Amino acid sequence: MDKLAIQGGHRLSGEIRISGAKNAALPIMCAALLSADTLRLDNLPKLRDISTLLTLLGHIGCDINLDEKGGIDLQASQFKHLEAPYNLVKTMRASILVLGPMLARCGEAKVSLPGGCAIGARPVDLHIKGLQAMGAEIEIEHGYILAKAKRLRGARIVMDMVTVTGTENLMMAATLASGTTVLENSAREPEVIDLAQCLIAMGARIEGAGTDTITVHGVDRLHGAQHRIMPDRIETGTYLVAAAMTQGDIRLTDTRSDTLDAVLDKLRESGARIACTPDSISLQMHHRPQAINLRTAPYPAFPTDMQAQFMALNCIANGVGRVTETIFENRFMHVQEMQRLGAHIDIEGNTAMVHGSASLQAATVMATDLRASASLVLAALVAEGETTIERIYHIDRGYECIEEKLNQIGAQVRRVH
Ligand code: EPU
Repeated sequence: MDKLAIQGGHRLSGEIRISGAKNAALPIMCAALLSADTLRLDNLPKLRDISTLLTLLGHIGCDINLDEKGGIDLQASQFKHLEAPYNLVKTMRASILVLGPMLARCGEAKVSLPGGCAIGARPVDLHIKGLQAMGAEIEIEHGYILAKAKRLRGARIVMDMVTVTGTENLMMAATLASGTTVLENSAREPEVIDLAQCLIAMGARIEGAGTDTITVHGVDRLHGAQHRIMPDRIETGTYLVAAAMTQGDIRLTDTRSDTLDAVLDKLRESGARIACTPDSISLQMHHRPQAINLRTAPYPAFPTDMQAQFMALNCIANGVGRVTETIFENRFMHVQEMQRLGAHIDIEGNTAMVHGSASLQAATVMATDLRASASLVLAALVAEGETTIERIYHIDRGYECIEEKLNQIGAQVRRVH
């Protein structure tokens, strides 16, 4: 299993190009199942989660053609298996996103229940309830969701929690339903808007994406389209925090500053100077960061996917930072590993009090989930000595070429096979 060896203490300075967003690409690739025509996608990131989903789409019967520039053609003209098997779903929960499209287009789908994961229980009850409200008959048998519906019908669905993939699954299903579906308490994440824009390009009739009420007027069929995946706001945020922690000076290109308001506000609060254009962000930090308090919540509030990285920043900040996680019940797995690097963190319930110290010391640590791994990379960049991060397959799920990108701006990161 690969490891990362990171020599801490180097200031980051230079320019990085941001990749396409994993969490936009995954639902948009599943949208290809809604049409018999070709869906052309550009700016797809090269990530393990993307190849896992391609394997699943291939299993279902989708034709896949990749080109060297990162573009891909997906065409689901014939289905081989209306099924997402356990061995693929267990490695990537986002596989649940094939449920809505397969059911809407083919009238049936069999998808493994995802089960628990490192950051929390993460049930999919709201996906199931929403499809039932649209007339689907759903049974759970031998760990699989078995869904059937001759044709889904429009419904008013009130989700009792804000769920990103739940909103995406139901929005995709509703595009081919008869009548109008209204999704109340929808997720407002930019990735939901990106998916809606791709669906609209395919002929779907959707209003309100980006607000908490999404209205979908069902159509009989969707057609082919071309869509460019939006930039990854979490990758962007992660490199900004890395620069702030190393008192660096970086410029990120091909990104979207309008999707990062809450993160940029917190970086400014920690003392960073930030300048934005619509597609680039520059950050300079001239001193040790100030500790910051934060509370995760659905978009546009502070994202849970940036919580661990800001915890790393607080570990070397001036003062005490309070970090409260409200989305997932077990998203503090990085704390124990950070403590191995010398961090001072007390946890009480869903809140961590982080007492900043002037330095961290290198150690061997273990990655436990995607964003936790990113936070360990950040801590290692400022720790004294060489830190080894084990189980970095988690990082490869969500960060394209992380060591190349960091080395390009002055870090010393080696992948050890
Ligand atoms: N929830 C339910 N029932 C449901 C669905 C969700 O109780 O049917 C709960 C979850 O357990 C959680 C909360 O609702 O407590 C929110 O979960 P959500 O459904 O929004 O999460 P998700 O859609 O499974 C996506 C991202 C995650 C990101 C979360 C929150 C994708 C593929 N994944 O997950 O990204 O943390 O939204 O913003 O879009 C990551 O990239 O590292 C990652 C974990």
